Amino acid sequence: MDLRWLMFYLASAGCVSAAENCSYKALIEHLGLDNSDVQMTSLRPVHNWTTPTFVFMNLLVTSITEVDEKAQSISTQITVIIGWFSEFTKWNPEDFCGMNFSSIKKDMVWIPDINIIESIKTEFATIENQHVQLRNEGIVLTSNTLALTSACKMDLHQFPFDVQSCNFTLQSPIHTSKELLINPFSDASFLTLSSKKAFQTQGEWELVNINISKGQVNTLGQEQDQLIYTV
Ligand SMILES: *[C@@H]1O[C@H](CO)[C@@H](O)[C@H](O)[C@H]1NC(C)=O
Ligand SMILES: *[C@@H]1O[C@H](CO)[C@@H](O)[C@H](O)[C@H]1NC(C)=O
Ligand SMILES: *[C@@H]1O[C@H](CO)[C@@H](O)[C@H](O)[C@H]1NC(C)=O
Ligand SMILES: *[C@@H]1O[C@H](CO)[C@@H](O)[C@H](O)[C@H]1NC(C)=O
Ligand SMILES: *[C@@H]1O[C@H](CO)[C@@H](O)[C@H](O)[C@H]1NC(C)=O
Repeated sequence: MDLRWLMFYLASAGCVSAAENCSYKALIEHLGLDNSDVQMTSLRPVHNWTTPTFVFMNLLVTSITEVDEKAQSISTQITVIIGWFSEFTKWNPEDFCGMNFSSIKKDMVWIPDINIIESIKTEFATIENQHVQLRNEGIVLTSNTLALTSACKMDLHQFPFDVQSCNFTLQSPIHTSKELLINPFSDASFLTLSSKKAFQTQGEWELVNINISKGQVNTLGQEQDQLIYTV
Protein backbone atom coordinates (compact mmCIF):
# COMPACT_ATOMS: atom_id res chain seq x y z
CA MET A 1 0.00 0.00 0.00
CA ASP A 2 1.16 3.51 -0.81
CA LEU A 3 2.39 5.31 2.35
CA ARG A 4 0.14 8.30 1.68
CA TRP A 5 -2.89 6.05 1.62
CA LEU A 6 -1.83 4.36 4.84
CA MET A 7 -1.48 7.72 6.62
CA PHE A 8 -4.84 8.86 5.27
CA TYR A 9 -6.38 5.60 6.48
CA LEU A 10 -4.88 5.91 9.99
CA ALA A 11 -5.89 9.57 10.34
CA SER A 12 -9.49 8.93 9.35
CA ALA A 13 -9.72 5.80 11.52
CA GLY A 14 -8.40 7.82 14.47
CA CYS A 15 -10.98 10.52 13.84
CA VAL A 16 -13.81 8.03 13.70
CA SER A 17 -12.95 6.26 16.95
CA ALA A 18 -12.38 9.48 18.91
CA ALA A 19 -15.66 11.04 17.79
CA GLU A 20 -17.57 7.76 17.66
CA ASN A 21 -19.44 7.89 20.95
CA CYS A 22 -20.18 11.62 20.84
CA SER A 23 -23.05 11.17 18.42
CA TYR A 24 -26.70 10.52 19.21
CA LYS A 25 -26.53 7.67 16.71
CA ALA A 26 -23.87 5.84 18.76
CA LEU A 27 -26.11 6.06 21.82
CA ILE A 28 -29.26 4.97 19.97
CA GLU A 29 -27.40 1.97 18.51
CA HIS A 30 -25.96 1.07 21.93
CA LEU A 31 -29.47 1.12 23.47
CA GLY A 32 -30.87 -0.96 20.60
CA LEU A 33 -33.40 1.74 19.67
CA ASP A 34 -32.42 1.74 16.00
CA ASN A 35 -34.12 -1.45 14.85
CA SER A 36 -37.83 -1.08 15.81
CA ASP A 37 -37.42 -3.90 18.34
CA VAL A 38 -40.81 -4.75 19.85
CA GLN A 39 -39.18 -4.94 23.30
CA MET A 40 -38.20 -1.26 23.06
CA THR A 41 -41.21 0.18 21.20
CA SER A 42 -44.16 -1.74 22.60
CA LEU A 43 -43.46 -3.57 25.84
CA ARG A 44 -43.35 -2.16 29.34
CA PRO A 45 -39.64 -1.44 29.99
CA VAL A 46 -38.91 -3.91 32.80
CA HIS A 47 -36.79 -7.06 32.86
CA ASN A 48 -39.19 -8.86 35.22
CA TRP A 49 -42.92 -8.46 34.56
CA THR A 50 -43.61 -8.40 38.33
CA THR A 51 -41.78 -5.03 38.59
CA PRO A 52 -44.25 -2.13 38.40
CA THR A 53 -43.41 0.92 36.28
CA PHE A 54 -43.33 4.19 38.24
CA VAL A 55 -44.96 7.04 36.37
CA PHE A 56 -44.66 10.63 37.59
CA MET A 57 -47.00 13.36 36.43
CA ASN A 58 -47.54 17.08 36.69
CA LEU A 59 -50.71 18.82 35.62
CA LEU A 60 -50.69 22.60 35.24
CA VAL A 61 -53.90 24.50 34.52
CA THR A 62 -52.90 27.43 32.32
CA SER A 63 -56.36 28.78 31.52
CA ILE A 64 -60.06 28.25 32.04
CA THR A 65 -61.72 29.08 28.75
CA GLU A 66 -65.34 28.13 29.40
CA VAL A 67 -67.60 26.95 32.17
CA ASP A 68 -70.86 25.47 30.94
CA GLU A 69 -73.37 24.90 33.73
CA LYS A 70 -76.03 23.32 31.48
CA ALA A 71 -73.62 20.75 30.12
CA GLN A 72 -71.86 20.53 33.51
CA SER A 73 -68.53 20.85 31.77
CA ILE A 74 -65.44 22.97 31.99
CA SER A 75 -62.97 23.83 29.23
CA THR A 76 -59.38 24.35 30.24
CA GLN A 77 -55.93 24.48 28.78
CA ILE A 78 -53.58 22.20 30.65
CA THR A 79 -49.95 21.18 30.40
CA VAL A 80 -49.29 17.57 31.31
CA ILE A 81 -45.72 16.55 32.07
CA ILE A 82 -45.12 12.82 32.33
CA GLY A 83 -42.02 10.89 33.29
CA TRP A 84 -41.34 7.21 33.89
CA PHE A 85 -38.55 4.74 34.57
CA SER A 86 -37.27 2.51 31.81
CA GLU A 87 -34.85 -0.28 32.69
CA PHE A 88 -33.72 -0.47 29.05
CA THR A 89 -32.57 3.08 28.39
CA LYS A 90 -29.80 3.56 30.95
CA TRP A 91 -26.23 4.34 30.00
CA ASN A 92 -22.97 5.62 31.41
CA PRO A 93 -22.38 9.23 30.21
CA GLU A 94 -18.61 8.62 30.34
CA ASP A 95 -18.93 6.13 27.47
CA PHE A 96 -20.74 8.72 25.38
CA CYS A 97 -18.63 11.82 25.55
CA GLY A 98 -20.51 13.05 28.67
CA MET A 99 -23.95 12.86 27.04
CA ASN A 100 -26.47 12.51 29.89
CA PHE A 101 -29.69 13.14 27.98
CA SER A 102 -30.99 12.82 24.45
CA SER A 103 -34.25 13.56 22.66
CA ILE A 104 -35.70 10.92 20.38
CA LYS A 105 -38.94 10.33 18.47
CA LYS A 106 -41.60 9.06 20.84
CA ASP A 107 -42.48 6.06 18.67
CA MET A 108 -39.03 4.59 19.40
CA VAL A 109 -40.02 3.77 23.00
CA TRP A 110 -42.94 2.46 25.04
CA ILE A 111 -45.13 5.24 26.42
CA PRO A 112 -47.61 4.86 29.31
CA ASP A 113 -51.27 5.22 28.31
CA ILE A 114 -52.65 7.75 30.79
CA ASN A 115 -56.10 9.25 30.24
CA ILE A 116 -58.13 11.91 31.99
CA ILE A 117 -61.27 10.04 33.05
CA GLU A 118 -63.54 13.13 33.10
CA SER A 119 -62.56 14.09 29.54
CA ILE A 120 -65.38 14.74 27.10
CA LYS A 121 -62.97 15.97 24.45
CA THR A 122 -59.20 16.32 24.49
CA GLU A 123 -57.21 18.01 21.74
CA PHE A 124 -53.65 19.20 21.42
CA ALA A 125 -53.57 22.93 22.15
CA THR A 126 -50.21 23.24 20.43
CA ILE A 127 -48.63 20.93 17.85
CA GLU A 128 -48.44 17.44 19.31
CA ASN A 129 -45.06 16.83 20.87
CA GLN A 130 -43.33 14.14 18.80
CA HIS A 131 -40.39 13.62 21.14
CA VAL A 132 -39.41 12.22 24.49
CA GLN A 133 -36.27 12.98 26.42
CA LEU A 134 -34.15 10.10 27.67
CA ARG A 135 -31.98 10.66 30.74
CA ASN A 136 -29.02 8.41 31.41
CA GLU A 137 -30.42 7.13 34.75
CA GLY A 138 -33.34 5.58 32.86
CA ILE A 139 -35.89 8.38 33.24
CA VAL A 140 -37.99 9.17 30.15
CA LEU A 141 -39.87 12.50 30.00
CA THR A 142 -42.39 14.14 27.73
CA SER A 143 -45.04 16.85 27.89
CA ASN A 144 -48.03 18.12 25.96
CA THR A 145 -50.33 21.12 26.15
CA LEU A 146 -53.96 20.10 25.82
CA ALA A 147 -57.29 21.81 25.25
CA LEU A 148 -59.56 19.80 27.48
CA THR A 149 -63.32 19.81 27.93
CA SER A 150 -64.19 17.74 30.96
CA ALA A 151 -67.22 16.85 33.03
CA CYS A 152 -67.57 18.70 36.33
CA LYS A 153 -70.56 18.84 38.68
CA MET A 154 -71.31 22.50 39.33
CA ASP A 155 -73.80 24.67 41.09
CA LEU A 156 -73.65 28.25 39.85
CA HIS A 157 -76.45 29.67 42.04
CA GLN A 158 -74.10 32.00 43.78
CA PHE A 159 -72.43 33.14 40.55
CA PRO A 160 -70.26 35.23 40.31
CA PHE A 161 -69.10 34.60 43.89
CA ASP A 162 -69.10 30.83 43.76
CA VAL A 163 -66.18 28.45 44.07
CA GLN A 164 -66.36 25.29 41.97
CA SER A 165 -64.12 22.30 42.27
CA CYS A 166 -63.46 19.94 39.39
CA ASN A 167 -61.52 16.69 39.32
CA PHE A 168 -59.01 15.62 36.74
CA THR A 169 -58.42 11.92 37.33
CA LEU A 170 -55.38 10.43 35.64
CA GLN A 171 -55.58 6.70 35.03
CA SER A 172 -54.46 4.09 32.55
CA PRO A 173 -57.38 2.52 30.66
CA ILE A 174 -55.81 -0.93 30.81
CA HIS A 175 -52.78 -1.22 33.09
CA THR A 176 -53.38 -2.47 36.61
CA SER A 177 -51.70 -1.11 39.73
CA LYS A 178 -49.33 -4.10 39.58
CA GLU A 179 -48.04 -2.70 36.28
CA LEU A 180 -48.37 1.09 36.57
CA LEU A 181 -48.16 3.32 39.63
CA ILE A 182 -48.94 7.01 39.09
CA ASN A 183 -47.48 9.59 41.44
CA PRO A 184 -47.22 13.38 41.44
CA PHE A 185 -43.90 14.94 40.37
CA SER A 186 -44.41 18.11 42.37
CA ASP A 187 -46.52 18.81 45.43
CA ALA A 188 -49.84 20.64 45.29
CA SER A 189 -48.56 24.00 46.51
CA PHE A 190 -45.86 24.06 43.81
CA LEU A 191 -48.45 23.21 41.13
CA THR A 192 -50.87 25.84 42.38
CA LEU A 193 -48.08 28.42 42.27
CA SER A 194 -46.83 27.44 38.79
CA SER A 195 -50.36 27.26 37.42
CA LYS A 196 -51.13 30.71 38.79
CA LYS A 197 -47.92 32.04 37.25
CA ALA A 198 -48.76 30.52 33.86
CA PHE A 199 -52.46 31.35 34.19
CA GLN A 200 -53.81 33.50 31.39
CA THR A 201 -56.70 35.21 33.14
CA GLN A 202 -59.99 34.91 31.33
CA GLY A 203 -61.89 37.48 33.36
CA GLU A 204 -64.68 35.50 34.98
CA TRP A 205 -62.74 32.60 36.47
CA GLU A 206 -59.85 32.59 38.82
CA LEU A 207 -57.80 29.60 39.88
CA VAL A 208 -57.99 29.16 43.67
CA ASN A 209 -55.88 26.08 44.24
CA ILE A 210 -54.98 22.57 43.15
CA ASN A 211 -55.07 19.58 45.51
CA ILE A 212 -53.65 16.16 44.78
CA SER A 213 -54.91 12.82 46.02
CA LYS A 214 -54.43 9.16 45.17
CA GLY A 215 -57.17 6.68 44.34
CA GLN A 216 -57.74 3.10 43.29
CA VAL A 217 -60.56 1.72 41.15
CA ASN A 218 -61.57 -1.76 40.29
CA THR A 219 -63.03 -1.73 36.78
CA LEU A 220 -61.25 -4.66 35.13
CA GLY A 221 -61.62 -6.97 38.10
CA GLN A 222 -58.19 -5.78 39.15
CA GLU A 223 -57.05 -2.68 41.03
CA GLN A 224 -56.00 0.31 38.94
CA ASP A 225 -54.01 3.25 40.22
CA GLN A 226 -55.34 6.80 39.97
CA LEU A 227 -53.92 10.26 40.55
CA ILE A 228 -56.60 12.90 41.20
CA TYR A 229 -56.11 16.63 40.78
CA THR A 230 -58.88 18.67 42.38
CA VAL A 231 -58.85 22.14 40.84
C1 LIG B 1 -39.04 -11.47 39.42
O1 LIG B 1 -39.49 -10.72 40.54
C2 LIG B 1 -40.04 -11.52 41.60
C3 LIG B 1 -40.63 -10.60 42.64
O2 LIG B 1 -39.72 -9.59 42.98
C4 LIG B 1 -38.97 -12.44 42.15
O3 LIG B 1 -39.52 -13.25 43.17
C5 LIG B 1 -38.42 -13.30 41.02
O4 LIG B 1 -37.33 -14.07 41.51
C6 LIG B 1 -37.96 -12.45 39.84
N1 LIG B 1 -37.60 -13.33 38.74
C7 LIG B 1 -36.48 -13.22 38.07
C8 LIG B 1 -36.28 -14.23 36.98
O5 LIG B 1 -35.66 -12.35 38.28
C1 LIG C 1 -18.24 3.72 23.42
O1 LIG C 1 -19.39 3.05 23.97
C2 LIG C 1 -19.18 1.68 24.26
C3 LIG C 1 -20.50 1.12 24.75
O2 LIG C 1 -21.38 1.10 23.66
C4 LIG C 1 -18.09 1.53 25.33
O3 LIG C 1 -17.84 0.16 25.58
C5 LIG C 1 -16.82 2.20 24.84
O4 LIG C 1 -15.86 2.18 25.88
C6 LIG C 1 -17.10 3.65 24.44
N1 LIG C 1 -15.91 4.27 23.88
C7 LIG C 1 -15.39 5.39 24.35
C8 LIG C 1 -14.20 5.90 23.60
O5 LIG C 1 -15.84 5.98 25.33
C1 LIG D 1 -26.12 16.56 32.71
O1 LIG D 1 -24.87 16.79 33.31
C2 LIG D 1 -24.61 18.16 33.58
C3 LIG D 1 -23.19 18.27 34.06
O2 LIG D 1 -22.92 17.33 35.08
C4 LIG D 1 -25.62 18.66 34.61
O3 LIG D 1 -25.41 20.01 34.90
C5 LIG D 1 -27.02 18.50 34.02
O4 LIG D 1 -27.99 18.86 34.99
C6 LIG D 1 -27.24 17.05 33.60
N1 LIG D 1 -28.52 16.96 32.90
C7 LIG D 1 -29.40 16.01 33.12
C8 LIG D 1 -30.64 16.09 32.30
O5 LIG D 1 -29.24 15.13 33.95
C1 LIG E 1 -62.91 14.42 43.48
O1 LIG E 1 -61.87 13.66 44.07
C2 LIG E 1 -61.92 13.68 45.50
C3 LIG E 1 -60.69 12.99 46.00
O2 LIG E 1 -60.64 11.65 45.62
C4 LIG E 1 -63.22 13.01 45.95
O3 LIG E 1 -63.30 13.06 47.36
C5 LIG E 1 -64.40 13.76 45.34
O4 LIG E 1 -65.59 13.09 45.66
C6 LIG E 1 -64.26 13.85 43.84
N1 LIG E 1 -65.31 14.72 43.32
C7 LIG E 1 -66.12 14.36 42.34
C8 LIG E 1 -67.12 15.37 41.89
O5 LIG E 1 -66.03 13.25 41.80
C1 LIG F 1 -57.56 21.73 49.10
O1 LIG F 1 -57.14 21.46 50.43
C2 LIG F 1 -57.26 22.59 51.27
C3 LIG F 1 -56.63 22.23 52.60
O2 LIG F 1 -56.87 20.89 52.95
C4 LIG F 1 -58.74 22.96 51.41
O3 LIG F 1 -58.88 24.08 52.24
C5 LIG F 1 -59.28 23.28 50.03
O4 LIG F 1 -60.66 23.52 50.08
C6 LIG F 1 -59.03 22.13 49.07
N1 LIG F 1 -59.38 22.56 47.72
C7 LIG F 1 -60.07 21.82 46.88
C8 LIG F 1 -60.28 22.41 45.53
O5 LIG F 1 -60.51 20.71 47.18
